[in-house]
Amino acid sequence: MNRRYRKTIIAGNWKMNQTPAEARALLDGVKGLCAKAKWCEVVVCVPYIDIPLAVRVLKDCRISVGAQNMHQEASGAYTGEISANMLKDAGVKYVIIGHSERRQYFGETDALVSQKVTRALEAELRPIVCVGETLQQRDMGITLEIVGAQVKAALSAVSADKLRRVVFAYEPVWAIGTGRTATTEQAAEVCNHIRTIVRKKYGARAARGVTIQYGGSMNDSNAKELLAELDIDGGLIGGASLKAESFATIVNAANQ
Ligand code: 13P
Repeated sequence: MNRRYRKTIIAGNWKMNQTPAEARALLDGVKGLCAKAKWCEVVVCVPYIDIPLAVRVLKDCRISVGAQNMHQEASGAYTGEISANMLKDAGVKYVIIGHSERRQYFGETDALVSQKVTRALEAELRPIVCVGETLQQRDMGITLEIVGAQVKAALSAVSADKLRRVVFAYEPVWAIGTGRTATTEQAAEVCNHIRTIVRKKYGARAARGVTIQYGGSMNDSNAKELLAELDIDGGLIGGASLKAESFATIVNAANQ
C-alpha cells in the first residue's frame, strides 16, 4: 500500500452467507473491532437482504456497506434484479462488479462488466471491479494479457474524472476459497500491471491514485506481507471476513 497517494481499502465479501438473524452478531463484532481504523477504509459487502440491517448497525461509524452485484439497467422489467439506484438509496457506497463467481456461474462477460461499471458510477456508487486469471491461463503464461484485457474492457466507457471512484480487485481464480494464496511477488506483479494499464490510458497522476486490492485466500496470517507491497492497496476478503476477529486482524494490518 502507498497511503500517500491512494486509499487503502479492506472489504469483506460475505458471498451467500449470513441470514439477517445471523448477520447481526457479525456486524456488531466487526463494528466493535474495526470502527476505529483511521488509515484504511473498511467495507462489508453483504447479501442484498442484509443491506438495511448493515446500514442501520453501521450508520454512526466509519465502516461502509457494499453490495456484491447489481443489474446493468437503470430500472424496468427485470424480475428479481436490483438496480444501482436502489443500492444508493439504501445507503450502499460500494458494489462488487464482475466477481469471478459471477463470471463463472452467471455468464458475466467483460462487456457486461463494462455496462455495470458505467451504471454504478452514474448512481455514484464506487465499483470494486474484480479481475483475475484461471489456473490454466496462469500455467499458459497469459496472466497479464488476460487481466489486462479485463481491465481495459471494464474501463472502456469510464471518463478520467470518474476513474478515481473505481477500485480494482485482483483475484486470481485459483486462489479463491482454495486456501492457496498468490505469492506476494505474483500478486504485486499483476497489481503493478493493472496500474500500468491505468497509467497508459489516464496518465501517471490518475494511476497513482487508484486503489488496487488483492483477493484470494487473504487471511490474518498473510495479509501483512501482501499489504507491504506498494502496489497492493488493500484486500477483498471472502472466508476470513465471516469471522469478526480474523477480519479485524486484516484491518489492523492495513491500518499500521
Ligand atoms: P476467499 O478469501 O474466501 O478466498 O475469497 C476471496 C474472494 O472471492 C473475495 O471476493
